[in-house]
Amino acid sequence: MIHTNLRPFPKDFLWGSASAAYQIEGAWNEDGKGLSVWDVFTKIEGKTYQGSNGDVAMDHYHRYKEDIALMAEMGLKAYRFSVSWPRIYPNGYGEVNEEGLRFYDRVIDELMAHGIEPVLTLYHWDVPQALMDEYGAWESRRIIEDFDNYCVTLFKRYGDRVKYWVSLNEQNYNTNHGFITAMHPPGVKDRKRFYQANHHAFLANAKVIDSFRTHVPGGQIGPSFAYSPAYPASSKPEDMLAFENAEEFTNFWWLDVYCLGHYPQIPLRYLEEQGLAPVFEKGDVELLRKGKPDFVGVNYYQTITYEHNPLNGVAEGKMNTTGQKGSNQSTGLPGLYKTASNPNLETSNWDWAIDPIGLRIGLRRITSRYGLPVFITENGLGEFDKLEQEDTIHDDYRIAYLKSHLVQCLQAMNDGVELIGYCSWSFTDVLSWLNGYQKRYGFVYIDRDETDERSLRRIKKDSFHWYQEVIHTNGERL
Ligand code: NOJ
Repeated sequence: MIHTNLRPFPKDFLWGSASAAYQIEGAWNEDGKGLSVWDVFTKIEGKTYQGSNGDVAMDHYHRYKEDIALMAEMGLKAYRFSVSWPRIYPNGYGEVNEEGLRFYDRVIDELMAHGIEPVLTLYHWDVPQALMDEYGAWESRRIIEDFDNYCVTLFKRYGDRVKYWVSLNEQNYNTNHGFITAMHPPGVKDRKRFYQANHHAFLANAKVIDSFRTHVPGGQIGPSFAYSPAYPASSKPEDMLAFENAEEFTNFWWLDVYCLGHYPQIPLRYLEEQGLAPVFEKGDVELLRKGKPDFVGVNYYQTITYEHNPLNGVAEGKMNTTGQKGSNQSTGLPGLYKTASNPNLETSNWDWAIDPIGLRIGLRRITSRYGLPVFITENGLGEFDKLEQEDTIHDDYRIAYLKSHLVQCLQAMNDGVELIGYCSWSFTDVLSWLNGYQKRYGFVYIDRDETDERSLRRIKKDSFHWYQEVIHTNGERL
């Protein structure tokens, strides 16, 4: 579809960028913060690249003013960040840690003083370790109440200033790696437990969205879904069927529950047959229906291509093993499909398919199926950046990546997609959960040379100036 009269980005488009607490804050044991599962998991030998962890990360906890000054200099309209649950409730529930609440007060006030719209993520994977120890975190229904209690505390505290909220970040990716590939905590490989823990996360998501309506009536909330739209490897009917299976099992399984309030029928039937479907209790059906979001948050990095799996064995999801290159996606599902490479697409250094048009396709699929507004809550390119002479980083590859995706956002909007905003991943470089500090995403380079006193210096990359201009011209000069 070619638009003869391309309408420009709307005036109120939220040009943003994103981060997550564990990946930038550091200060892992300061001011009353409790442990998160990541504080513990990253210290188990062999779990992360060269044993990297977020103890110091980007030291944003102490340098947030400097970071927000850079955002202001860039002209950012929105900044997505997450709150660390154990900073607020060190034990997951019970006594609240006022120091933790004050930290985010300061961050929000600083953002607002610079005219930057805060976008607050309630959960970006750092569940309190205390809840893991006490009842297995997402494996128990008890988490639904505890998560709601934590979220309501934040709604009451920040609801007067924060309009945009993200409920769960990449529940699909987080539970997949927690219970299928074992690469995230709790490091389990068990499909039955996977579907059940994931069900609890859906219930928790619905419950906080329901609470949100009471506490932040003027606000908007939605989950951030890691959406990798499925492609068929060929037009062979068997491949088409595999592709449809993949879209149902790896995408609609989550998106339908969020947006329609129930599981998609075809995968549910199959999982029931296999004895893998989640167990429902009284009230679950009703609760899921109460979780309809205001927008669908989309974290987009790549499309994934699928083909028929003649063996009907275990699907061969490409997996990212610690410290090695490889796709971040895994399917972990019985042999209804298997992943295939797409000869039409180039891949990043981490083997993720680069596919800007895939973003347009994904946005359109969401619009057609759910008719809800979309907020791109993440999109970006992880690369090995090189600090060159006179403190320069020439990341033209990142500019090309972001630009091509923004072009497709504009096309999608002209197709009829209602897009609220776009948050690049990420603002400064961040810690990659498994790949340490070598994989960089930011507009701002962080110099982590521990032997250098200038360590953790913030240095603007070429992409910083490029995005500044994009925002300044409201996307006219991409
Ligand atoms: C999605 C996650 O939300 C974020 O934490 C992660 O760093 C990026 N993808 C890149 O892998």
